[in-house]
Amino acid sequence: MAGYICEDTRKVTTHRFLEMKGRGEKISMLTSYDFTTAGIVDGAGIDAILVGDSASNVMLGNVTTLPITVDEMIVFGRSVVKAVKRALVVIDMPFGAYQSEPYEGVRNAIRIMKETGADAVKMEGGEEVIDVIGKIVNAGIPVMGHLGLMPQSINKYGSYAVRAKDDAEAEKLIHDAHLLEEAGCFSLVLEKVPAALAARVAGELRIPVIGIGAGHDVDGQVLVVTDMLGMNKGFTPKFLRRYADLNAIMTDAIGQYIKDVKSKDFPNENELY
Ligand code: KIV
Repeated sequence: MAGYICEDTRKVTTHRFLEMKGRGEKISMLTSYDFTTAGIVDGAGIDAILVGDSASNVMLGNVTTLPITVDEMIVFGRSVVKAVKRALVVIDMPFGAYQSEPYEGVRNAIRIMKETGADAVKMEGGEEVIDVIGKIVNAGIPVMGHLGLMPQSINKYGSYAVRAKDDAEAEKLIHDAHLLEEAGCFSLVLEKVPAALAARVAGELRIPVIGIGAGHDVDGQVLVVTDMLGMNKGFTPKFLRRYADLNAIMTDAIGQYIKDVKSKDFPNENELY
């Protein structure tokens, strides 16, 4: 099968993120939550791995990202970091870890970095959380911002619809993006916003803008690995391209195994001691 050969085996750093934007090289990013998957994703040559709080949905079976805790993110993050040799590993700060009190946010970011060995954290929000983001950056921790659709605020929005379609929300997003860059964020995720707006933000900022449902005129793309591999059957947003149908492949393989056990075909003479 044709694959991507990555000749540059050097560890990806936040500095190299900036260099990639500078030379117009698109940044590839996927989520991972466990050792085995992260090893495959890293080995395939991905530039960055996000231990997203989407783990709340796809690993823990919650309806939203809100319930996942710092302790749970640390378990997922640690297992990913152990597998990764090259990719930049970014871990989401979960809901409640930084919204109430800035120094609690700094403490949680330090915990995540110390206990996982990750390279950076990601945080949702603009002006409302700029103080805590600045303090975390000042503590020496690289921060990736996240604007547009921010799933930790789903109860405020009431839906997962495209954000910043009206002028007022678009202007606030542009303002927030500049604030995040000034606060020292090394990059920014834009989720589910009009492509023209995302292109404008990527054009105005010096730091790389990574899109998910934000069109092609940004500096890189991120997808949830279980979505792009087709493990979740029901999730079909317009922006999602499926690169495999692992749900069907796994269901077929498991069905075959069940048949072989029931028919006593497995194990055979070569599969015993
Ligand atoms: O948690 C996550 O997976 C994310 C991506 C969708 C960007 O934040």
